[in-house]
Amino acid sequence: MEFFSFCFLSFASLLFIFLFTSLLKFFAPTIRQKLPLPPGTMGWPYIGETFQLYSQNPNVFFSSKRKRFGSIFKTHILGCPCVMISSPEAAKFVLVTKSHLFKPTFPASKERMLGKEAIFFHQGSYHTKLRKLVLRAFLPEAIRNIVPDVESHANDCLKSWEGRLINTFQEMKTYTFNVALLSILGKDEILYREDLKRCYYILEQGYNSMPINLPGTLFHKAMKARKELAQILAKIISTRRQMKLDHNDLLGSFMGDKEGLTDDQIADNVIGVIFAARDTTASILTWILKFLGENPSVLQAVTEEQEAIMRSEEKCGDDQSLTWADTKKMPMTSRVIQETLRVASILSFTFREAVEDVEYEGYLIPKGWKVLPLFRNIHHSPENFPDPEKFDPSRFEAAPKPNTFMPFGNGTHSCPGNELAKLEILVLLHHLTTKYRWSMVGTNNGIQYAPFPLPQNGLPIILSRKS
Ligand code: HEM
Ligand SMILES: *[C@@H]1O[C@H](CO)[C@@H](O)[C@H](O)[C@H]1NC(C)=O
Repeated sequence: MEFFSFCFLSFASLLFIFLFTSLLKFFAPTIRQKLPLPPGTMGWPYIGETFQLYSQNPNVFFSSKRKRFGSIFKTHILGCPCVMISSPEAAKFVLVTKSHLFKPTFPASKERMLGKEAIFFHQGSYHTKLRKLVLRAFLPEAIRNIVPDVESHANDCLKSWEGRLINTFQEMKTYTFNVALLSILGKDEILYREDLKRCYYILEQGYNSMPINLPGTLFHKAMKARKELAQILAKIISTRRQMKLDHNDLLGSFMGDKEGLTDDQIADNVIGVIFAARDTTASILTWILKFLGENPSVLQAVTEEQEAIMRSEEKCGDDQSLTWADTKKMPMTSRVIQETLRVASILSFTFREAVEDVEYEGYLIPKGWKVLPLFRNIHHSPENFPDPEKFDPSRFEAAPKPNTFMPFGNGTHSCPGNELAKLEILVLLHHLTTKYRWSMVGTNNGIQYAPFPLPQNGLPIILSRKS
């Protein structure tokens, strides 16, 4: 009797719990729906406010929205409802503390171009594994050994520009491509550089074209070039496997993993890293030359710092003589890099997508909506950086507050290549400022978006050796 009543009671309580949770589930959406969406306007059906965003300098769109609605607002671009955020707290929420609620998201055609196994598109265990392998190849301990090779690339490029009128951005792309290949393939790079460059060039032309896969279209050629890239990489991989050599580069890291990446996964990630590394670093270098050209006293200070390093160990101009330790003794030059990253903010924002309904500061961010942390607005807010449009490296004499300066992002997807990017920039600036002078050609006040902000026409300059 006792036993039966016990069973009945527990059955009744189970039933009750079941009904109660079902009820909760039933009513929960309505509770959620009571939360307001962030303020803002959604524009026209489907096209939303896409034109407003793209018809002008995008920063005008962001900052006028921010003025009107505050640091979190909703809008609708490229067919997607989205929430844009521009406070350090909100960026921390989306990128760091609640990053599991916001997955990375890209247009499908870009995913096909780079390869769907590439690190950017993933969350969870596959992403964690890839990230470990990428970081292993790009941490200071790993890249300190390649300083002499980076240096010889810098010297080769500078020599080839001597006495010529050059498009700074185009030439910097050659440098950053070569350094990216060096970090991926080590010394093998030289053997395959020209083939890889040719394929990558065709691939990127298709990247911004209409995604129509018919013979003759740029997109079709790009997909073919992608296949060829993968074949070249497969050849390098199989040669390495036969020789049973350990390599200290990114490919070595991918191949050495015990759980193993497939050849396709390796190819997608190698292409992805080139994509992430080349144009970003090249455009920052271009902006640095512009800002140094416009600020003679800053250029003077950088030059003196670099000359002191050259003298310190009796280093002579042409040699590959820098060490990793030297690059850590360049505070002035490093502040110029930081300030350029801030002013130029080449990655104005990044994309995430809410994986479930999320509440933030009393607002609802609905599942499936895009969420865009606006790095540029955070970097250009007078609260974080007084007189924000002014180029003033001395502002970095004090460390910026957390999540007010994120040129490399933050949290689970932050840039694993940031040490390499800074290293290659410092090395190039060392040789540039100690041995060369340059002058900008034409008027240089315009900005073009390609898709990063860039000085007009890629900053044409004439470079000559100091006498
Ligand atoms: C000045 C140059 C660079 C800038 C400003 C930059 C900026 C960034 C930013 C902001 C992110 C995070 C994007 C997000 O959270 O959605 C990122 C991710 C990434 N960057 Fe960089 N980057 C630079 C150079 C490089 C270089 C040289 C490499 C490789 C050698 C690299 C490899 C990557 C990779 C693989 C990711 C994806 C990480 C992940 O999803 O876990 N970047 N970068
Ligand atoms: C990234 O976020 C953490 C946690 O909020 C913070 O301590 C750190 O300073 C942030 N990094 C940057 C570059 O702002």
